[in-house]
Amino acid sequence: MNVDGKPYRTIWLNPDDASIVQAIDQRALPHRFLIQDLKNWRDGRDAIADMVVRGAPLIGATAAWSLYLAALEARSVDDPDTFINNAAAKLVDARPTGANLAWAVQRMLEALAGTSDAEQRIAITRREAESICTEDVEICQRIANHGLELIRSISERKAGDPVNILTHCNAGWLATVDWGTATAPMYLAHQQGIAVHVWVGETRPRNQGSQLTAWELGHEGVPHTVIVDNAGGHLMQHGQVDLCITGTDRTTRTGDVANKIGTYLKALAANDNDIPFYVAVPSASIDWRIGNGQKEIPIEERDVAEVAIVEGLDGGRLRQVRTMLETSPIRNYGFDVTPARLITGLITDRGVCPASEQGLFELFPERKPTA
Ligand code: MRU
Repeated sequence: MNVDGKPYRTIWLNPDDASIVQAIDQRALPHRFLIQDLKNWRDGRDAIADMVVRGAPLIGATAAWSLYLAALEARSVDDPDTFINNAAAKLVDARPTGANLAWAVQRMLEALAGTSDAEQRIAITRREAESICTEDVEICQRIANHGLELIRSISERKAGDPVNILTHCNAGWLATVDWGTATAPMYLAHQQGIAVHVWVGETRPRNQGSQLTAWELGHEGVPHTVIVDNAGGHLMQHGQVDLCITGTDRTTRTGDVANKIGTYLKALAANDNDIPFYVAVPSASIDWRIGNGQKEIPIEERDVAEVAIVEGLDGGRLRQVRTMLETSPIRNYGFDVTPARLITGLITDRGVCPASEQGLFELFPERKPTA
């Protein structure tokens, strides 16, 4: 997608130096556009843990590139297999909720299995990380095509009046390699001349909505309005929302969806107001082993400073301020689980299906356990 009219991806190999991976530093947005160099696997791990990069698909892609960096470093260690396996384990531990991280690491290790030549390890990890990124873009483009039909039918019903879509957090191109998951159908609709308007929930505490989604949509010229997280229900009651589309960090085979904290409340409000609530789900975010999202998906708890301290521009200077007493106890849950019964459908890269085991198995028959 475009930044000041120039196309970017979120992560790439430095074209002038193949020992450096580069990524957009998302902590600096929307006020500054910075690129961070990742020079070894620890840089990649820290970028994931510190949310230089975030969003389940991009976290997976970053882990893949980190293992390429580990393969480069492994040239000069005594026990390269142990070195790479240790890096893989530490990467998987960097963030607990999203499914794509462990998926990408597993895929990289499988690609490496049986390789003992250092140069081969480097070539394999580079090729596999590149494939993960290319496939991620293709998957998002397929989600765009499937989700577009939902938007188009509402647009036709409204005789071309703007389709008001509510989203939460950032499931945009910054959360993936390009295009995004939830935003992909919105971008495609906009490109095809279908009038859309996006309600962007700010998404406390890290404000991925107001700081990342709004920034993205602005650079693509998609009409949007930022709202506080608590405004979604009010807008739905007053006929201002035609459709909700969110992303997911991990979806169970039964269609329960873990996504950024606050998604569940949006789904409850949509259900109460008969508003379709869809989740954009790339296949690597589906955890086929899990049937009960509320019980089985680990929910990340993050630093309480994210809740207590806000950062913003003060006369052109970035400042941080504490908004509450030092003595106030705080909990900072990163994600919640929306049960399948509140979800109208899943927009996957293979099509749209009901949020259910049967719905997902129909699109992914190879995942169906054989008796
Ligand atoms: O904590 P984050 O920013 O990594 O959270 C991920 C998200 O942005 C969302 O939950 C998103 O909807 C899923 S990733 C496409």
